[in-house]
Amino acid sequence: MAKRNSSSTPRMSGARSRRKAVYPGTFDPFTYGHRDIVLRALQLFPDVTVAVLENPQKSPVFSLEERKAIIRETTLGLNGVEVDSFDGLLVDYVRQKGIYVVIRGIRAVSDFDYEFQMALMNRRHYEAIETVFLMPAEAYTYLSSRLVREIALLGGDVSGLVSPMAERLLKERANRMKASS
Ligand SMILES: Nc1ncnc2c1ncn2[C@@H]1O[C@H](COP(=O)(O)OP(=O)(O)OP(=O)(O)O)[C@@H](O)[C@H]1O
Ligand SMILES: [Mg+2]
Repeated sequence: MAKRNSSSTPRMSGARSRRKAVYPGTFDPFTYGHRDIVLRALQLFPDVTVAVLENPQKSPVFSLEERKAIIRETTLGLNGVEVDSFDGLLVDYVRQKGIYVVIRGIRAVSDFDYEFQMALMNRRHYEAIETVFLMPAEAYTYLSSRLVREIALLGGDVSGLVSPMAERLLKERANRMKASS
């Protein structure tokens, strides 16, 4: 029998769910680009958990609860979507949940380097993990949470890019920043 090493193909275990996938991210905030990826993931997996990385190092604009509430609003009516959160390593989270499929979105070649590196690093720590990369509709390829934050906090219009709740909360933040400056 061939010796199993890090380059071997993993054997599928019945204990791990083939139906479930995790879509992790900071989602600060969740955008319609993220929603597009969730819709595509649902074509492949009946259960998709959107998992918010707490990520305090990144000093998110939105609290964990706000980010989760925005995701719930943006994915309202989509069957099979669950919203959860985690802190620490993604591999620990998925292992504990009995899931091995991770969804990530690729907007452009510029996303690829980092995503590829992370996928391989995750596999190094958890051999069974499979990262599935999905491309959004062309209209969303320019959309990022960072861009939405920057535009909104400078008073720009982000309707059509994020849900009404995200838009409202961003407006509140922008007004607060204006008042305190
Ligand atoms: N518009 C989009 N289309 C497709 N995938 C996306 C889009 N925006 C983000 N993603 C992907 O979703 C995952 C989670 O992304 P993340 O929470 O970092 O969002 P982000 O928009 O990249 O935020 P930030 O600008 O703060 O880094 C990543 O795999 C990212 O590449
Ligand atoms: Mg990002």
